[in-house]
Amino acid sequence: MSSENKNIVVLISGSGSNLQAIIDACADGKIAGSITGVVSNKADVFGLERAAKAGIANLVLSHKEFESREQYDHALINKIDAWQPDLVVLAGFMRILTPEFVQHYKGRLLNIHPSLLPKYQGLNTHQRALDAGDKEHGVSVHFVTEELDGGPVILQAKVPIFAGDSVADLQARVHEQEHRIYPLVVDWFCSGRLSVGDAGVTLDGNVLPENGYAND
Ligand code: GAR
Repeated sequence: MSSENKNIVVLISGSGSNLQAIIDACADGKIAGSITGVVSNKADVFGLERAAKAGIANLVLSHKEFESREQYDHALINKIDAWQPDLVVLAGFMRILTPEFVQHYKGRLLNIHPSLLPKYQGLNTHQRALDAGDKEHGVSVHFVTEELDGGPVILQAKVPIFAGDSVADLQARVHEQEHRIYPLVVDWFCSGRLSVGDAGVTLDGNVLPENGYAND
């Protein structure tokens, strides 16, 4: 396969607005690859409609039909690998992954998390940022390791927190940034500019600082 045409598989659990941003960027020729498949662990989510509308193969693999996390992730690997992915993109896929899964896609598994990591790993990040009285919040794209929301950061985007902001206000502000930075990072990977190794994350041959590109 040429480096100009990478296979991307996207995993979702919900609305899929980040999936849409990546679909649109592929359609606009802004990503050196295309989405070959979408998997959701939940049926009837809007993200599946987005995939279908774009003519992308998609399926539901419900975690409820498996006895253990290991069995689910094993089945998930089989489904994903049928699409021969160069890159697997977690786009609001709300599952804790097994070490087997993470190892299998080591170096080609991306996640987006709505906080300025390492702050606020886990859930309810917007509420936690408001409760803490933070003046800024944001989003991180990172390579996935076995630590939940803990892998090396590639790119972050910050947003201000204003007095009187609700969770919904903040979530919308962060979402806007998510839709800008995720397609960009996916393209960096697909065009061979981005990788991760023992030294950390490398972009265009330069090892990035701990908070990712242009963290200041
Ligand atoms: C996004 O805000 C993403 O950052 C978050 O889920 C949302 C999915 O929205 N992911 C996590 O919290 C992962 N820990 P979307 O379905 O509209 O793309």
